[in-house]
Amino acid sequence: MIEQCKLIEFPQKGDDRGHLVIVEGNHDIPFDIKRVFYIYGSDKNVIRGKHANYYTEFVLINVAGTSKVKVDDGTNQKIFCLDRPHIGIYLPKMVWKDMYDFSKDSVLLVLASEHYDENEYIRDYSEYLAIIRNC
Ligand code: TYD
Repeated sequence: MIEQCKLIEFPQKGDDRGHLVIVEGNHDIPFDIKRVFYIYGSDKNVIRGKHANYYTEFVLINVAGTSKVKVDDGTNQKIFCLDRPHIGIYLPKMVWKDMYDFSKDSVLLVLASEHYDENEYIRDYSEYLAIIRNC
């Protein structure tokens, strides 16, 4: 599953007036966007995320600043750096994710394939391992 976590480069239509980055649901990313949220003001030592989702797929984009995303499928781990506003990372359902190492100016935009439902979040890592290993 970890191989499904991929950096995506979005089309840019910038000109002498400035940059413009395009992210269209079902086109530049592989799902319909049902929810958008963004995270900013997190200290360097904060680790966010620490969960997996039964159904939701995500795309994370540092539209300002930088952060790191560690993904884990119960067997393999991989670290991605988000450091450009036209690059996102696609995360499939059922991957464990940590977001950390936020720069002071980090604004992490998150696009999600589902509306928020706390019941589809797995927030306990040992529970996650038990579920993923029985799949
Ligand atoms: P949390 O899942 O801890 O955020 P992250 O994983 O991005 O660090 O969410 C923090 C709080 O916000 C928690 O009480 C749930 C709530 N929340 C919503 O109500 N809707 C949402 O879309 C999200 C992402 C969180």
